[in-house]
Amino acid sequence: MKRAKISIIGIGHVGSACALLAVQQRLGDVVLVDIPALDGLPQGRALDLYEATPLIGTDARIIGTTNYEDVQGSDLVILTAGVVRKPGMSRDDLLSINAGIIKTIATNVAQAAPQAILIVVSNPLDAMVYAAWQASGFAPQRVIGQAGVLDTSRYRAFVAQAVGCSVNDVQALLLGGHGDDMVPLKRYTYAGGIPITQLLDHQKLDEIIDRTRKGGAEIVRLLKTSSAAYTPAAATIEMARAILHDQKRILPCAAYCDQEYGIGGYFVGVPCVLGSAGVERVLQVELDDAEQQAFDGSVEHVRSLVAALKKMS
Ligand code: 2OP
Repeated sequence: MKRAKISIIGIGHVGSACALLAVQQRLGDVVLVDIPALDGLPQGRALDLYEATPLIGTDARIIGTTNYEDVQGSDLVILTAGVVRKPGMSRDDLLSINAGIIKTIATNVAQAAPQAILIVVSNPLDAMVYAAWQASGFAPQRVIGQAGVLDTSRYRAFVAQAVGCSVNDVQALLLGGHGDDMVPLKRYTYAGGIPITQLLDHQKLDEIIDRTRKGGAEIVRLLKTSSAAYTPAAATIEMARAILHDQKRILPCAAYCDQEYGIGGYFVGVPCVLGSAGVERVLQVELDDAEQQAFDGSVEHVRSLVAALKKMS
């Protein structure tokens, strides 16, 4: 059977953590790519990881490169490249600098691996996935933004901490863009099958939702010079596994929505069925008036980011 080939573009903290997790989970062969100005970095990370393979117990082939020819034949490409925010910055402040980076990468990837599925991780996420889609010319089902899995993981972790239960027992759904207006849904949150409102009061849940929305900034404030890496990488690899193993997982992703939710052609966080074709289905959930209003506000923010992106090109 052919092994999967995964290319990771941008070997910073998130890209490096993605590489480690992909190898540990035996998802396939891994190519680490960065820009020629950083020659040595992807090769060094790749060699370091390759040297760990006897300990990990895998015979994955791992290379580092600055040449897109090595991306040829990739089944999955993960885009993590770009500048990360500093304390006090919002993800939106990265729009102009990261848009150029993502467009160049997506163009190169489309030439090298026209059959690949793209997972975009760079910020501001909902605009970057749009930019990657446009530059690649790929069908929208093959371009997917990673954010909902990360945000839901934060939310689940905080809920589990408050309930005093295993994170494995908390299930939740979160919609919207990857910004402070993301929409964690109390009504779709359960611990051990019990609606969360029977275990935590609304004030506590509102505090958790607020902390989740600002979860990225909380990490940036602590780290000062970089942003979260482990959770974004774990979330990305959860999506990668769903795609490469054709698992049909239901995961919240930034997926292209046209008729769905009446969004009209933007990538926003919605529950999707992820399998070998990428986003195989967007699932529509019922929203009450308050949830719909919050979702509409978040989608409006995504629309304004994409409008700013379009003005640049
Ligand atoms: C976060 O939320 C980096 O956007 C990423 O941590």
